[in-house]
Amino acid sequence: EPVFENLLDVMKSRLPSRLMNLLRLLGTYGSELRMSVYVVGGFVRDLLLNIPNYDVDIVVEGTEEKAGIEFAKYVGRELNATVVPYEKFLTASIVFKDGYKIDIATARTEYYERPGELPQVDISTIKKDLYRRDFTINAMAIKLNPQEFGTLYDFFNCRKDLENGIIRVLHNLSFVEDPTRMIRGIRFEQRYNFRMEERTLELLKKNLEENYLERVSGARIRQEIEKILEEKEPIKAFRRMAELGVLKHVFPKTYYTSLMDEKLTRLFKYLPRFKERFQNINDFYAVSTILLEYYDRDTLEEMRKKYGYPKRFIESLKMTEGLILPLKAMIEERLHFSEIYKVLGKSTPYVYIHLSAYLDDASVDYLLRYIDALNTTKLDHVTGKYLVDTYGLKQGPVLNRILEELYSMKLDDPNLDERATVEKIVQRLQNEGYSNVL
Ligand code: CTP
Repeated sequence: EPVFENLLDVMKSRLPSRLMNLLRLLGTYGSELRMSVYVVGGFVRDLLLNIPNYDVDIVVEGTEEKAGIEFAKYVGRELNATVVPYEKFLTASIVFKDGYKIDIATARTEYYERPGELPQVDISTIKKDLYRRDFTINAMAIKLNPQEFGTLYDFFNCRKDLENGIIRVLHNLSFVEDPTRMIRGIRFEQRYNFRMEERTLELLKKNLEENYLERVSGARIRQEIEKILEEKEPIKAFRRMAELGVLKHVFPKTYYTSLMDEKLTRLFKYLPRFKERFQNINDFYAVSTILLEYYDRDTLEEMRKKYGYPKRFIESLKMTEGLILPLKAMIEERLHFSEIYKVLGKSTPYVYIHLSAYLDDASVDYLLRYIDALNTTKLDHVTGKYLVDTYGLKQGPVLNRILEELYSMKLDDPNLDERATVEKIVQRLQNEGYSNVL
């Protein structure tokens, strides 16, 4: 039995007045065009949960398939906003001057089977639109037309599931129609501390074993995992993906042990500190340094093609593999930066992040100090030209070795006397019999 409840007071008390005004306007414009206008999905869910969410998804019912786009253009004109239509999908975005964006879709219009008859548009349209959605908690709508402004449209006891903390599919084919919903379901479950309902869980497991996730493109799976990485506690969703076997269908050679759980926990904890230091850190690559550990080359290549990792990222993973444990030991023993530099050098951020997953807080502090030292240290008084002019050295590997050695010593001692030190290095090399190359 559908429930039509008045949410006006809830909306008034929980939504900013600017947003309320916008919603009212959208309803008014809808009526001017003789269309029913609803705000749907995550917005309604979070309104009822009293969690701020200003991502407005609008569904429009009209007699035309293009009702949504027509509506968006009308709103765009009235409110002086930019409209981006996606004709193929019968959807549009309205982008306001301040960058705020809302999405408009057309409710799937049901046609009569017999040709020539008019499309049927009635209450079943929004109902069917909602029925096609992923989970009950995301399948409610609020009508915005003035006569009914603020009326909740709940056809499937969605609100009860929301109140009871239940993730439930609307029909048996939900995961078949869109297998990424298996990952979405876990994300919502862990975000809200909800529970997957029994039958939903069975369907998920069944469709998982029937390899439905393998039919989805890597790009779409990566998107869903990236959404998990935007959550407050992504580790919870990874744990649950491992528990339900979803992870195996996404990263087939990953064994989620308690050790891996600890490594991921630390990685997520330290990640923000690396982001402070390096721009454009990609969380998906960061977490992949752990998820792809000990993969053989062929499977790594498969993963690269599937998820679009850069070639150099995969190569660096393989190169780093054997160095992580020695580096962990060196850092834990607080070896001088010059010693660590010999093994770690100046690495990519993902190598540091990978390494950090093995370290405790104090050791990560030490690693960050090493990184900061690399970034601030440069030779001020000795250059290649200086060595050529002063010692008659020739350009080449020996000259670079001298500069590197001097540099690594300065990592340990920022106040190093560069010219006095280089003098000693050159003398030592000469004593060691390098005179012919020098
Ligand atoms: N949806 C769906 N199936 C999907 C993706 C989305 O049915 N695979 C529907 C859901 O009704 C969802 C709405 O589209 O509420 C919007 O999707 P999206 O913006 O991805 O998610 P939100 O529910 O808004 O969640 P979030 O809070 O993570 O943005």
